Amino acid sequence: MIRNHLLRAALAASAVVIGAAAASADEVNVYTTREPGLIQPLFERFTAESGITVNTIFVKEGLGERVATEGENSPADLFSVVDYGNLIDLVDRGLTQPVQSDVLEAAIPASLRGADGQWFALSMRARVIYTSKERVTETAMTYEDLADPKWQGKVCIRSGQHPYNTSLIAALIAKDGAEVAEGWLEGVKANLARKAGGGDRDVARDILAGLCDVGVANSYYVGLMRSGKGGEEQVAWGDAINVILPTFKDGAGTHVNVSGAALAKHAPNRDNAVKLLEFLVSDEAQKLYAEANYEYPVKAGAPLDPIVASFGDLKIDPLPLTEVAAHRKDASLLVDEVGFDN
Ligand SMILES: [Fe+2]
Repeated sequence: MIRNHLLRAALAASAVVIGAAAASADEVNVYTTREPGLIQPLFERFTAESGITVNTIFVKEGLGERVATEGENSPADLFSVVDYGNLIDLVDRGLTQPVQSDVLEAAIPASLRGADGQWFALSMRARVIYTSKERVTETAMTYEDLADPKWQGKVCIRSGQHPYNTSLIAALIAKDGAEVAEGWLEGVKANLARKAGGGDRDVARDILAGLCDVGVANSYYVGLMRSGKGGEEQVAWGDAINVILPTFKDGAGTHVNVSGAALAKHAPNRDNAVKLLEFLVSDEAQKLYAEANYEYPVKAGAPLDPIVASFGDLKIDPLPLTEVAAHRKDASLLVDEVGFDN
């Protein structure tokens, strides 16, 4: 009763609600910070196959606060968010519960899920290097190369404090320590063509304009630009660049971030939530999940969008994201220390 009341309140309060809040055993409630349009087709497929209704509750901000406030009576079954940092924050706040599933463990690499089954990556975005098609001949680069004086005045990147970049810096700290990471940040700063800032797509825009030759940005923006989904102007930005899948100098792999999910601690429909999670790593769902935003599926062998496939074979850095997450704070402090954004 209380739970139904809370669910109605939750649904009424959300900016966007999809699906009916049917009070039946055959439902699952997903709190998502992702634009519902991206994942809705997947949930519809799940409902068609399982008969389980998915109630999507779009929580743009303050997901953790809201669930903490709802407490034991929270109707939330599953959290769907972007950035492993947000997943780990939910775990650290005690808002999740572990899932033991052979299906999930077989589909998702160990580095891309909590060791204790508290969170799972479902799609990936790679932190890649954009290079000028016109002016750059390199076809392979490391992240460390961006600090090489040969790129002086030629590098573009968004704020060092953006989670996409603090995550990359945190990975370098995890590998080589804070001192090396500091030296790298200073080197990249010395190479900047303009102040660190703007968005990832601005790197491609500024390469087209001749302002910079190389830059760091997420992989999926290339799909959004080249496909025309970001508007006609951006097609030219996307076409002005080549994409390099860099590794750190250890050669281990490319740094990725993820979108993913975690089971809510007080999930009233736990079994259905686990079924949905397992559905999301099926071949069919992985293809749709990745295509929706030009991401990489987490499941090896799931098909890639042709634009994404054109970047070459992605080798994922095997460093566990949980380990990277532990250095995010230090990364942020370093960015301030070297005045990266000044
Ligand atoms: Fe983004």
